[in-house]
Amino acid sequence: MGASKVLLTKKQIQSRVRELGQSITYDYAGHELVVVGILTGSFIFLADLVRTIDVPVVIDFMSLSSYGALTESSGEVRILKDLEMPVEGKNVLVVEDIVDTGLTLTYVVEVLKKRRPQSLKVCVLLDKPSRRKTAFVPDYCGFVIPDEFVVGYGLDYAGKYRNLPDIRILELKKAKGQGGDE
Ligand code: XMP
Ligand code: MG
Repeated sequence: MGASKVLLTKKQIQSRVRELGQSITYDYAGHELVVVGILTGSFIFLADLVRTIDVPVVIDFMSLSSYGALTESSGEVRILKDLEMPVEGKNVLVVEDIVDTGLTLTYVVEVLKKRRPQSLKVCVLLDKPSRRKTAFVPDYCGFVIPDEFVVGYGLDYAGKYRNLPDIRILELKKAKGQGGDE
């Protein structure tokens, strides 16, 4: 298979997600939180993370234009599906699978700030700081990773591999040789 080298095991992810949930619980104690998941990559991380957060949580999703089958960002971000609810006066925590160039999250933060939330923070599972094109820094981060294309635990390549329970490095040559849908 094209994604064979395990970068982060199920166990490592589980224990780090629990730590993130504890920090978030501590930081938002006594407040209600609106968790905004960025579709689709964050869905597994978000599902695990919210179950470790012990403050009242409301969940909403946003979908943005993404790489499609490619592994390089076009630099253009568009909203494909907006939030269902207003966030004015709310404590908003954006949850994303990975920050790479930073273009997506810089855009999301810009858009949500205009809606005047009480507070706005971002939690990412993975950070690839070596490829950053903006000054974006996440408030909560699971793991800093090297410049490799990773899949699993919600992250995909051409829609595949999201269901892997661990996070693996995609070996592109092998993946292409599979005759997949890219
Ligand atoms: P930017 O570059 O805007 O990108 O920070 C964030 C989005 O790019 C996708 N991305 C990846 N997806 N493996 C993936 O499956 C990766 O290694 C990877 N790097 C970036 C991801 O969709 C994220 O939301
Ligand atoms: Mg994504």
